Amino acid sequence: MTAYDLVLANGQLVRPWGIEQADIGVRDGHIVAIGDLRTAVTAERIDCAGLHVLPGLIDPHVHLRDPGDPAIESIPDGTKGAVLGGLTAVFDMPNTAESVINNLRLTRKRDGIKGRSWCDIGFYVGATKTNIAELAALEEEPGVCAVKVFAGSSTGDLLVEDDESLRRVMLNGRRRICYHSEDEERLQARKPLFAEGGPYRLHMEWRDVECAYLGTRRLMALARETGRPAHILHVSTAEELAYLRDFRDVASVELLVNHLTQSAPEAYERLGGYAVMNPPIREQRHVDAAWAAVADGMVDTIGSDHAPHPKAAKERPWPATASGLTGVQTLVPMMLDQVSQGRLSLTRLVDLMAAGPARIYGAVAKGRLAAGYDADFTIVDMGRKRTITNDWIVSPCGWTPFDGQTCQGWPVMTIVRGQLVMREDELLGKPIGQPVRFRS
Ligand code: DOR
Repeated sequence: MTAYDLVLANGQLVRPWGIEQADIGVRDGHIVAIGDLRTAVTAERIDCAGLHVLPGLIDPHVHLRDPGDPAIESIPDGTKGAVLGGLTAVFDMPNTAESVINNLRLTRKRDGIKGRSWCDIGFYVGATKTNIAELAALEEEPGVCAVKVFAGSSTGDLLVEDDESLRRVMLNGRRRICYHSEDEERLQARKPLFAEGGPYRLHMEWRDVECAYLGTRRLMALARETGRPAHILHVSTAEELAYLRDFRDVASVELLVNHLTQSAPEAYERLGGYAVMNPPIREQRHVDAAWAAVADGMVDTIGSDHAPHPKAAKERPWPATASGLTGVQTLVPMMLDQVSQGRLSLTRLVDLMAAGPARIYGAVAKGRLAAGYDADFTIVDMGRKRTITNDWIVSPCGWTPFDGQTCQGWPVMTIVRGQLVMREDELLGKPIGQPVRFRS
């Protein structure tokens, strides 16, 4: 009798306590053994000598635009990009063409992934001023990773900006709430100050440091008052990172790869509208503060904020430029390259991109190479050097802000619950993605 469906042999396993060479035995989609499995009987054996085996990496911040316009992005294409880029799960934002704000739409969305998703998915539900009373029930629904609050406006019409409504959101439910933190009043007041058609870097002057910092100060006051935990998404300023240090009882922190690898004014000069996102790319001192926060443990998760828009919308003059950058396919290579450059260790990368999302969102059986966990693996070759190009991007919008970027370190296999779905840039099998399970 075969003991295992799959054995990953001879890999360098990235475990919470360090890197060690061992074999992994998989059965029925779970890790069942880690050790010396040279003589084990298995249906399939993959030699991982020379490769690092990471727990399946998770992008906790993507906009797959489904329902929406499949000519820009969709669950099938976005999750193809995810597994080609080495991700085994993504958490999808609710600001879609019909926003995910009630049970009917959530059910439609969850049912709609069957046979269409290449990786596992978690779903955000959006808060609005009219669904506050439903949020406590919605956040307990299967597959829901968190409530998302746009406290400052961005793409789409989701917005809860005033303190009284935010307080009511916090008092309805108990799981960690994820915030887009930019102060709406300040955003609106500043917009007329800048000339239309001006340079793209006006985006960061309009949505300035104080917009983000003030937004976060207001949220922290309310989080303390209500006791409701807050995950501040895409923190973009040195000021917020310093401030949040005193709020670790209620606050956790997400950074984006864009804010770690791109700085103003260079990014705006080089990329034009393809550097425009919310919150904006800012000066180098914020990038330095972000790396210091990665090093000292302030950061809990790293995401891509994959936000596809058509090229024509990205090339419109500012401020009509669509905000948002693609990133689901490039997140892992870009972060592996940071490891190669010595900015973080592979164990810290796994802490931020697998264990971190699992802990912050309460994902069940994800994020760790250990017996009993899901057999999700991101297998990487740290010796592989490859250049990201627009023609590699499967999102129909067809562009990446990282076009031309050479990365040292590349994902070579993606395994979702024991199924090999990507090997050497080739999609394998079928889209078997399921809703991620979350602890209530
Ligand atoms: O730049 C952004 N684009 N920031 C967001 O918060 C939303 C996103 C989108 O959906 O386009």
